[in-house]
Amino acid sequence: MNALDRQRQIYLEGASGRLPRIPVDADRLEQAARARMSQQAAAYVIGGAGRGATIDRNRAAFDPFPIVPRMLRDVSGRDLRISLFSRTLPAPLLLAPIGVLEMAHPEADTAVGRAAANLGIPFIFSNQASVPMEQVAAVMADAPRWFQLYWSKSDELIASFVGRAETCGCEAIVLTLDTTLLGWRTQDLDLAHLPFLRGMGIAQYTSDPVFQRLLDEPDPGPMPRRIITTDAIRTLIQSTRRYPGPGFFGKLRSGRPLAAVRKFVNIYSNPALTWDHLSYLRNLTRLPILLKGILHPDDARKALDYGMDGLIVSNHGGRQVDGAISTLEALPGVVKAVGGRVPVLLDGGVRGGADAFKALALGATAVCLGRPYVYGLALAGAAGVREVLLNFLADFELTMALAGCRSVAEISETCLYKR
Ligand code: GLV
Repeated sequence: MNALDRQRQIYLEGASGRLPRIPVDADRLEQAARARMSQQAAAYVIGGAGRGATIDRNRAAFDPFPIVPRMLRDVSGRDLRISLFSRTLPAPLLLAPIGVLEMAHPEADTAVGRAAANLGIPFIFSNQASVPMEQVAAVMADAPRWFQLYWSKSDELIASFVGRAETCGCEAIVLTLDTTLLGWRTQDLDLAHLPFLRGMGIAQYTSDPVFQRLLDEPDPGPMPRRIITTDAIRTLIQSTRRYPGPGFFGKLRSGRPLAAVRKFVNIYSNPALTWDHLSYLRNLTRLPILLKGILHPDDARKALDYGMDGLIVSNHGGRQVDGAISTLEALPGVVKAVGGRVPVLLDGGVRGGADAFKALALGATAVCLGRPYVYGLALAGAAGVREVLLNFLADFELTMALAGCRSVAEISETCLYKR
């Protein structure tokens, strides 16, 4: 559906008295989703590190780059397509990996996979997904998907995740570097709520044969002391229900649901990660590997020295370092360092078509959309995600055309005002 069809569809529905059920305006979309989600889900999805300065900065960074629209350029034909690795994509847009989507909607990753596949927009499966990657891939036919990897303390588990991603048709591995430790998430901390401890967002693990084998081994990690309260019992029930397999009481007696949570907490991230680890991953797969979390030009150059195939300029949506540089501020330095040798993607603060346009003008190959699609998911499942994506694409197409560009290739720094 092109931008004009989308616009027409919304206005025609309005003429019959029907308003969009998914707000078009980005702020109202967030407000509506906040009102729909539980307090814990809203804190987890919307919240960030510390005082939220990085979240704000990601947004504010778009302001100093006004677009200068050019006139009389015949924009009646518009081409949003880009090529990325071995694919032609319908637009310079991907869906960022976001964990624990079951907090937004029971169909979680499956709903997002359906909506993404419907529009041919690549979905980057989260390492912290609520649904195993194979199940999401199964609803996506041959639509594009990638896999996000967190570097676990178990090399064998890394190999298993990467192998499964290859088998279920993922076309790239996105190694997230910025979460070797979980940031200081004030909103979650104030609610004392970490979804993983309730067995949420660990489906890639509990569905993994290597992880299952690791569960049989004694765990050297610290044993958390649990105080028996009604909440503790509720947590136990929830984790047991979420654990795969039939028979609630059998699962409960096996002790595996809680053991899985404990094992996950002990191995999911590895703060000892260094550049030298990358060769292990490079040797595991022939898929393109992108490093996510790169913000410094020196790190960008180093990534190329280590044989990486792409970068995602990201600060984890402001969830890790409060007061970090915004992604749009970091982008030009990274783009310059890379010199066109590999694609550079960007996420963080992307809320509308103009944001994508500005990022592309500053050298990004594509942008990744994050929170807004989760808001669509919270409000109306797969249909809600699809609405958000259609709106985003229409907004981008119109911005591009009204700025005087017929194709993504025509978007360049000259489209922006230079002081
Ligand atoms: C995990 O990736 C998170 O940001 O919570």
